[in-house]
Amino acid sequence: MPGTRLTVQAPDGRRLEVLTSGVTAPAGPAVLPVAWAGVRDAGDEELAEHPDRLRWNARYAEASGASFVPHPLAVRALSVPPPDGPVADLACGPSGATLLAAAARREVTAVDISDVALRLLAGEASRRGLRDRITLVQADLREWRPAGARYALVLCTGYWDRAVFATAVTAVAPGGLLGWEAFTAGALRARPGLCPQWCLGEGEPGSLLGAGFEILDVRDLPDSERGAKRAMLARLARG
Ligand SMILES: C[S@@+](CC[C@H](N)C(=O)[O-])C[C@H]1O[C@@H](n2cnc3c(N)ncnc32)[C@H](O)[C@@H]1O
Repeated sequence: MPGTRLTVQAPDGRRLEVLTSGVTAPAGPAVLPVAWAGVRDAGDEELAEHPDRLRWNARYAEASGASFVPHPLAVRALSVPPPDGPVADLACGPSGATLLAAAARREVTAVDISDVALRLLAGEASRRGLRDRITLVQADLREWRPAGARYALVLCTGYWDRAVFATAVTAVAPGGLLGWEAFTAGALRARPGLCPQWCLGEGEPGSLLGAGFEILDVRDLPDSERGAKRAMLARLARG
């Protein structure tokens, strides 16, 4: 597939025009080119064989379609509201949260390892006339490094990794919000196949926040058949 000329966001916030390399994806729903933008240490080949990418691409390709319903935590966070500024949606999937933030005139950086999910999101964003406000970043979040404390809202739902959380905290701008939802260890009862390291420990993620963060809301979500989760919304002091 030939390269495509795209506008992407550089780590220092500048917008650059770049020529991408060709994009390959498994068969499935699809379809618009994805801007390979952002900061990542892994090379293309490394990401191509990454087990998380393969697993999630297969899931999204098998699904009958994305709902694009915004996550409730995104709705709550955006209604606080965050101060002016961009939003980062981490492990975004085909994200209704990204679309909601973009519709609220926010610039959004949407990061995920699954190019299938990013294509689904790109297609829906184009249909809604929101594509120009969204920078899609295909990256392994464990390698992703934000360009400083610049996001008015950093959101992550449906994903947990302590090291990624530590990185995400550094991306929140003074006065900005951090919203996170993930499985708790209680989810292992409903989903014995779940990896324990994907689950929040007691008191997490609030206990991992550094000085300067105030927890606005934390709620444990019922132990449904999909597994128990905890959602937290916190605000960083203006400094
Ligand atoms: C349960 S889905 C959550 C999607 C969306 N945030 C939501 O709440 O509906 C988990 C997402 O994490 C992404 N993901 C898994 N491992 C990842 C990694 N190492 N780096 C970046 N994204 C990853 C998957 O591709 C998937 O889109």
